[in-house]
This record gives sequence, C-alpha cells and structure tokens, in this order.
Amino acid sequence: MNKPRELSAYEKKQLFKYGLAEADLLTRGELPVEYLTGFVNFKDLEIKVNKNVLIPRVETEELVDLLSDFVSNNLLGKKISYLEIGTGSGAISLAFFDFLENNQYLKLENFVVTDISKLALNLAKENFHILFEGSHLKKIDFLESDLLSNPEIFISRKFNLIVANLPYIPSFNVKKLDLSVRDYEPILALDGGKTGFELIDKMLSQVVEHNLLTNDGKIFLEVYENHTSKFIEDNFPSINDFFSIKEISDQFNNQRFLVLQKR
Ligand SMILES: C[S@@+](CC[C@H](N)C(=O)[O-])C[C@H]1O[C@@H](n2cnc3c(N)ncnc32)[C@H](O)[C@@H]1O
Repeated sequence: MNKPRELSAYEKKQLFKYGLAEADLLTRGELPVEYLTGFVNFKDLEIKVNKNVLIPRVETEELVDLLSDFVSNNLLGKKISYLEIGTGSGAISLAFFDFLENNQYLKLENFVVTDISKLALNLAKENFHILFEGSHLKKIDFLESDLLSNPEIFISRKFNLIVANLPYIPSFNVKKLDLSVRDYEPILALDGGKTGFELIDKMLSQVVEHNLLTNDGKIFLEVYENHTSKFIEDNFPSINDFFSIKEISDQFNNQRFLVLQKR
C-alpha cells in the first residue's frame, strides 16, 4: 500500500495563503501544491501556473541572476536584444523584464519570448499582462515556434542575450522522476531526448546557422547535471567549433548552467 502523503511546511503555507484546506491537496495524489493554488513565487513575483507549464524551480532563479549580472557588467549603455526559447509560464523572462524595468540605465531594443506550446505561450502572455500592465509590453514579441524554426524570431535582428531552460531530462530517466513531476508536469517540458541534450544541441546549431548571436553576446542555458564541457566534447563536439563554454553550479552544488559565447 502507498504511504499516505505528508504535507511539507511549504505546502501548508501555500494552502493557507490561498484559502485552501489541507484535505484539498491530500485527496489529490501527488499533485504539486502550485497546480492546486494556481500560483508560484519566483524571484519577487507571483506567477500564474497551470498544467500546461512546468512549475518554475528555485535553481532557475539563479539563471535570472546570471543574466542580470551579465547585463549590469557588460551591456550598460548598449541596447539589449533578448530572446528566450521555451518560456513556459514565462518565469525567466518575467523576472528579467522586472529587473530591466527597475534599471533605468538599461535600454531595451528587442524582447522575444517563444515556446512550442501555444497554451504555455498564452499563459506567459497573461502573466506579463497581469504583472506589467501599463509598462512597455508592446516591446515584447510572443512567438509560437519549434526552437528557432519561426523566422519571425530573427528576421532583421540579432540577440546579445539568448536564454533557454529547454527540456533536459534524458528520455530513459523520465520514468524515474518523482511521481509529483512525472505524472503531473507536461512531458513536453521534461523529455530532452536520448541524452537530454538533443533539443539544446539543435537550438545551438540553429543559432549558428542563422548567425543570431552578436559578437559580444552570450547564451545562458539551464542543463542536466551531467551536461558538462566534457560531456559536450564527447557527444556534441562541433559545438566547441563555434562557442567557448563555461560551467556554473547551482546552489545545491550540482553542475546546472552553461554560458556560451562566440569563439
Ligand atoms: C523545462 S520547461 C522550462 C519552462 C520555463 N522556461 C522555466 O524555466 O520554468 C521547457 C519549456 O520548453 C518548451 N519546449 C519544449 N520543446 C520545445 C521546442 N522544440 N521548441 C520550443 N519550446 C519547446 C516546453 O513547452 C516548456 O515550456
């Protein structure tokens, strides 16, 4: 028999915050609390989530910090041209847009947010409208696209910031994920192909093919723990012909992020 679910302090707090009873969650199998309340806190924002999007993770907040540090140190006074591939709820782009809104020295030229899922993109758009009503929303393009296949993304523009937290779980590991992830979060947001790096590799070759990255720009990726420089050298060596790669660990000391720039 399965062990009855025990709620964490975080889950209890979230239920209380949204006026729900513990029984509402205890009767829903391993449903993540965020899908019941409909919200998640990410950086300083309260973001809407639903079953069509991954629940943004705490590690991903660090990706936003990496972006913000990079622009603060390198792009002051330059025009920012930003692209996110696979935005889901919009979490990364929402938090980065919030950072830009609060920094008058940064100038925004392009802000492009994409996903292959129309339902995810609709939710991202809704979140932008709820959180940034009345600001420079008209500068944002929400584009449905399988990676970079939609030419509207790049016609007449290049990017100095490209960010992606694409699905990166190796296919054979998806079935081993916690039930709360495997049975509730969208498979489209999890399965990254045989090694988990297939989608990322394809996206990087499209960046090269269309020459999308400026010479001073960087690509920020969230990846699986074993997606190291050595892994790339062994499995996807042609990436090294075009990009130099820096590994960065997350707060749990797992290899988690890659930062690429043109060679
Ligand atoms: C791991 S989730 C990340 C969502 C969000 N960026 C975050 O950090 O919480 C990956 C996202 O990539 C999208 N995706 C999957 N395959 C894609 C593809 N071929 N092209 C574009 N987006 C894709 C999924 O729909 C999902 O929203």
